[in-house]
Order: sequence, then structure tokens, then C-alpha cells
Amino acid sequence: MTEKLRRIGILTGGGDCPGLNAVIRAVVKTAAYDHGIDVIGIESGYAGLIRDRCRPLATSDASGILARGGTILGTSNKDNPFRVPMREDGKTIYRDLSEEAIRIAKSHGIQALIAVGGDGSLSIAHDLGARGLRVIGVPKTIDNDLDATDVTFGFDSALAVATEAIDRLHTTAQSHQRVMVIEVMGRYAGWIALQAGLAGGADAILIPEIPFHIEKVAESIGERIYGGSSFAIVVVAEGAAPAGGNMSVRDTIADSPDPIRLGGIGNIVAHALEKLLDRETRTTVLGHVQRGGIPTPFDRMLGTRFGAHAVRAAVAGESDVMVRLRGQLVETVPLADAIAKLRRVEPDGDLVRTARSLRTTFGD
Ligand code: F6P
Repeated sequence: MTEKLRRIGILTGGGDCPGLNAVIRAVVKTAAYDHGIDVIGIESGYAGLIRDRCRPLATSDASGILARGGTILGTSNKDNPFRVPMREDGKTIYRDLSEEAIRIAKSHGIQALIAVGGDGSLSIAHDLGARGLRVIGVPKTIDNDLDATDVTFGFDSALAVATEAIDRLHTTAQSHQRVMVIEVMGRYAGWIALQAGLAGGADAILIPEIPFHIEKVAESIGERIYGGSSFAIVVVAEGAAPAGGNMSVRDTIADSPDPIRLGGIGNIVAHALEKLLDRETRTTVLGHVQRGGIPTPFDRMLGTRFGAHAVRAAVAGESDVMVRLRGQLVETVPLADAIAKLRRVEPDGDLVRTARSLRTTFGD
């Protein structure tokens, strides 16, 4: 029989996004009000478990944070208890401190851990589950690239920011008769670019799932700017790449579960279009603005539902599962299934077909 739950831990790992505080608030309040369970907050993602930075979270700590962006616990997209870098004899070696991390969790009386994160953080949670720690995952990421859930919280807020940016670029593009290129995040998936492009009425949308030919993009934009509408908006996902070419890598971060940081394709596309079209072109790289600020009502709702459900799952004795949205329902799915597959845009899917019907080019 599962022991009665008296104390759970929560951490937020990976890149932050709007809605994390909504989850923390829902976990703390549901645990306290419905079940009389204490919550321990683990600081800076898995770093807090490795370095023993844990503190009790009272319901008062969870008040007034619903609409706040970021995470009151802090996060890290580097720390992994299974691979902790250490300096020895002038060299960096990697140690597996997962047993120590589990010991630290248990020393705080944590009987189940709620890990809020993207694919990297959820994989670590799954591995900790295999070592005997009870874990419940909660999916977050602006990239919306987890296959096991219809949507991750954070995506809707990032989409709102990107769409507003496109709206703003429209007016200045029109005044100057320019081609405006906007580069958005999303890693290896084009969800932000595709949906913001659709919502913002972009003339070209370039995504990782559809390799582009710059000449075809130029041809389509040229028809537009020399055929009536004097300006154009091109949305480029940071992971977009030309047919036969590679994604643009901005940086490589050692020790990160995914060391590649994408970026730079927006400028490359803009320079090429300027030459091919002989028309003034400007680039906006939206960057981390997409991850900051207040969560949309949708993300507050989803984060709240995920947080409350995660507590219920822990109380029911579930482990090694992730909460997810399927249709209208929040439920759990095995963590192994949740991390098995990234969700990418289907090149023949409804959203792409709709954009094509409106003469938006994907450059293919
Ligand atoms: O996964 C979220 C995300 O914002 C991606 O869209 C982006 O590629 C990456 O994180 C940026 O990471 P960092 O915050 O380390 O620059």
C-alpha cells in the first residue's frame, strides 16, 4: 500500500515561460486546502536538489503570483543530477549524483516530486523515477513541442507576444514600403512561427519542418510588393533552414541537456531577400521577449489545472507520469510516453494548408 502523502516537493526546470507561477500556486493551494499536504519548493531546478536549496512554501508564498511571469523558484537549463560537472586535476569530469539528489529530497521529507519542465527536465524526472523517487511531470515550454499533450502552457503567451510584434511591424512596414523579417523562437518546431504568422497575416512563414528555397520566397514576396501591396511580412522560425542547408546555430552551451542555441536565420533571410528583391529589408529578432511578461488567461488556466491535477495524481499514488491536456480533459500519461516524441508541425496539416490557401508562402 502507498504511504499516506504528507509532503511533496516542486521544482521548475529548463527555460522559463509564463504560467510557471500559476502551477506553483495551484500545487501549493490544492495540496494545503484539499489534502493537508506540505509543499517544499526546490530552487533553480535540479540545481536545488544537487546543492540542497529547498524551502517550505506556505499558501501565503503562493498568493499574488498567478499573473506574474517567470518562476518564484528560479530555474536552470543546465543542471542534471545524473551528470554534474566537477573539476578534478585541472580537468572537468562528470559525476552521477542522482542518489545524493534523492537523499536530499528525502531528507526534507519529500515523498513525491512535481517536476515542471520541458523534454529535458521531464527526462531527468523519468530517470529519477526509475531510481525510486516518486515523480509527477508537468509539461511547460513556449515551443509547444511535446507530443503527449495537446498544448503546453507558455505557448499561448509566446504566441500573443509574437502576434503583437507582427501587428506592430505591419504599420511601420507599410509606411516605409519595406520587407520586414521577424525571427521567432521554437527550437526544432515551427509552432510559434506558423501560428503567429497565421494570426498576424504573414506573407511568408519559414519553419524547420519545411526546408525553404530563398528564390521561391523572393518570387512570392516580389509578386506581392510589385503587384499592389507595397510591403511584406516574413516570419522565420529560429530553426528554419534552406533546403539542403543546416539550421543556424547562435551558441553552444556546454553542460546543457540540449547544448545547441539556434538563431541568426532571420538576418540571413533578410539579406538574401534585399538582394533578390532590391527592396529595403529590416530584421527583428524577438528573442526572450517571447518568454517574459504576464501569462495569458489561457496559460493561467492551463497552469492552474495542471498544478491541481498533479497534486491529485500524487495523492492517488501515481508516479512516473505527466499531466497533459487531451481535448478538454486534463489527465495523466506515462512519462516514458511523454518524452518519447517531439511534436512538430505537419507539413500537410490543416494549419499549413490554410496558410497556403491565403497565398502565404513556405518557400517550398
Ligand atoms: O525552449 C524554449 C526556448 O526559448 C527555445 O525556443 C529557444 O531555442 C531556447 O529556449 C533558448 O534558450 P536560452 O534561454 O538558453 O537562450
